[in-house]
Amino acid sequence: MVKMKRNIIINNGKNAITGAESRDLNQRSLKDYGLLKKSFFNFNFNKDLDTGVVVSVIDGVVSIKGLRNAKLGELLKFQSLSRGKIIKGMALNLNLGSVDAVLFDEERYILPGDIVEGSSKVISVLRGKNLLGRIVNALGEAVDGKGPIIGEEEVPIEIKAPGVVAREPIRESMLTGIKAVDSLLPLGRGQRELIIGDRKVGKTSIALDTILNQKEENKKNPSRAMHCIYVSIGQKRSSVKQFAKVLERYDALNYSIIVAASASEAAPLQFLAPFTACAIAEYFRDNAMHALIVYDDLSKQAIAFRQMSLLLRRPPGREAYPGDVFYLHSRLLERAANLNSGGSLTALPIIETQESDVSAYIATNVISITDGQIFLDATLFMDGIKPAISAGLSVSRVGAAAQCLAMRKLAGPLKLELAQYREVLGFQKFGSDLDSATMAILKRGELLVSVLNQDRNSPVLIQDQILYLFSARAGYLNDIDPKDVPDFLKRLSIFTKNSVLFSVHSSSLENNDYFKKYKFKFLNFFLNYFKKIVLKNTNNSKLW
Ligand SMILES: Nc1ncnc2c1ncn2[C@@H]1O[C@H](COP(=O)(O)OP(=O)(O)OP(=O)(O)O)[C@@H](O)[C@H]1O
Ligand SMILES: [Mg+2]
Repeated sequence: MVKMKRNIIINNGKNAITGAESRDLNQRSLKDYGLLKKSFFNFNFNKDLDTGVVVSVIDGVVSIKGLRNAKLGELLKFQSLSRGKIIKGMALNLNLGSVDAVLFDEERYILPGDIVEGSSKVISVLRGKNLLGRIVNALGEAVDGKGPIIGEEEVPIEIKAPGVVAREPIRESMLTGIKAVDSLLPLGRGQRELIIGDRKVGKTSIALDTILNQKEENKKNPSRAMHCIYVSIGQKRSSVKQFAKVLERYDALNYSIIVAASASEAAPLQFLAPFTACAIAEYFRDNAMHALIVYDDLSKQAIAFRQMSLLLRRPPGREAYPGDVFYLHSRLLERAANLNSGGSLTALPIIETQESDVSAYIATNVISITDGQIFLDATLFMDGIKPAISAGLSVSRVGAAAQCLAMRKLAGPLKLELAQYREVLGFQKFGSDLDSATMAILKRGELLVSVLNQDRNSPVLIQDQILYLFSARAGYLNDIDPKDVPDFLKRLSIFTKNSVLFSVHSSSLENNDYFKKYKFKFLNFFLNYFKKIVLKNTNNSKLW
């Protein structure tokens, strides 16, 4: 009965509402307001609920009369009578007598006169271990077609970051399996390390390799297993699917959760996705477990936030972003922590730059919030250096405390040597006119670059990384052409995989007490044996 009456009011006696008619309705606001009031009073309200009625829908922002008890960030449910479905939204501007809200779906479903119900709770998410292996949307609902997820507990997506007293300094390493990162930019559990670079320079690949590497790390120490949460913001759905496929192929999906707000979804969902994912990841941190969260990428979240803020008529600031865009990212990244209760949350936010401009607004903001950055250089990428990590501009401020002694010893002079190499690289074209010292720097640099180069989706175990770097630093590669280094390392890796001798000693290489006692004695013996006996017998004319 009520429904029929409302339909007559809204449809003006016709059966369907077209876009033009709905705009018409918006314009005839005064006349409508009388009709809306009638519709409002005719509606069979649930007295326990805070209810309102839509007055206008302009550019995705819904103005609502009523909702007297609405909270900032409250989940609202719109009864779209024209489409017969419930659409969710969020209250953002609490004005005197009205509320402005944003929608999580297309605005064409909502028309003036639609009824809005408050849920009396801020946006929340169901979280728990059951989410592992699943893909969810920005509201924590399953989108992978594998059925609904039964969460363990419901929490608001915005929770205050842990205080100073609950935190501990970083003392446990978080290995990425990427040689250039684990040696030069060591990360620790609880650290926030930014991955920054232009489009298509391998930002996502670094994060993906890190997630894949946790498979072997988790096997080593199941009680300290790392759970990985990947948040995709404003990307194509096909990219998310591709990412999930790679995780599945490498057996990494069972310890991972994907939270996706794709480019086709509403801006408020792209804004919410990182917070939802963080609340999901905090389940592990707060229950004395370990989690890694990748925000791919926060520049798209900032753009969605700017769009929402401008539509809500909040004042624009630098680059038209609202003044609190710094706070948006800082309150999100502050939630990464190493807690004294035993849990940790490590964050790898990603930022996309234009023309390698790290001084842009959002880039500088996130650089200043995080504990260091991995800067990916487009020119290095073009030169074939992959991952294209710029040794000069990248830094990890806190992770070195957790790096094992053997790696620290090897990596110390590496950064300097690489920086020197990049400095003199421009002189290479002078060829034989160069002095012998410059030639030596160039040769050494070329050798180190070929040792650090790494294909994607192929993380390297830390003991193998130590072996490779030691072979370069101790001169075992001096008689090999840099172009043949990948081939040499491949043979070495095949040999180590099958060598009982190496597997017995390799696990100790990470142990600082072992290293203090034996230094690199075993590696020296092993590499001599490999070069003089194993390789010679394989009759490899290319290398010898
Ligand atoms: N280590 C690597 N070795 C070889 N190729 C790589 C490596 N890392 C990345 N690539 C290549 O670079 C391309 C871009 O990688 P990726 O998608 O990780 O970059 P991105 O910076 O995340 O891109 P986008 O800006 O689209 O997000 C991929 O097609 C991949 O094949
Ligand atoms: Mg990417």
